[in-house]
Amino acid sequence: MNGAGPKPLMARLDRLLANLGYGSRREVAALVARGQVVLDGAALKDAGAKIAVSADLPGRLTVAGQPLDPPAPLTLLMHKPLDVVCSHREAGRSVYELLPPRWRAREPALSTVGRLDKDTTGLLLITDHGPFLHRVISPRAEIAKRYVATLDRPLRGDEGAVFAAGTLMLEGEKAPLAPAGLEPLGDKTARLTITEGRYHQVRRMFAAVGNHVLALHRESVGGLMLPADLAPGDWRILTAEEQAALFA
Ligand code: URA
Repeated sequence: MNGAGPKPLMARLDRLLANLGYGSRREVAALVARGQVVLDGAALKDAGAKIAVSADLPGRLTVAGQPLDPPAPLTLLMHKPLDVVCSHREAGRSVYELLPPRWRAREPALSTVGRLDKDTTGLLLITDHGPFLHRVISPRAEIAKRYVATLDRPLRGDEGAVFAAGTLMLEGEKAPLAPAGLEPLGDKTARLTITEGRYHQVRRMFAAVGNHVLALHRESVGGLMLPADLAPGDWRILTAEEQAALFA
């Protein structure tokens, strides 16, 4: 997943480092001139040299003594905590602030794969790989997103049928929601599986059946579960196996 696969891409060293947020190409050239960019133990001398962007490059190339940041394509798996937003444009602390500061200057930029509300927790993917992002969020791909909702009022009993019907119209929408699955977990808790990602979808679905979501947690996307050992606010690089599980 991370790295360029069997045939590594070739990239100019200064462009590669500038795109990873290490500075402008001029600043990167200065790092090279100071002998701070080292490949396989030897300082590189030419900022314009082409190097192979292989998956093992971060283990072989150091910048100022630190392993190179993972090159694109990069996908992260985060346990989104409460009270952080998924958009640069929304007020408040964003999920990007939980990542290394240099990563905010990466090109292509990292963006969240869909959004979770500020007060939703759970599995969040962040990627710089456009085709991956579109494949996950496309309603046509019908990738299941599974949430656990804690509700203000007890379930009435008919919510499962209403959500499964594929006819529920949310206020202000032109098309009904695709069928969704409800599994009651207690009188005021339920697991909801949806394949779309409309604005505030889960909260609006429960509002449409006279309830109110007090807490919302996403536990899986496709076949990928939020790992139990990933604490709120923690993240790591998505492995190739996890990516395959997501689409399985
Ligand atoms: N549905 C919502 O209402 N909020 C989320 O964060 C995700 C799905």
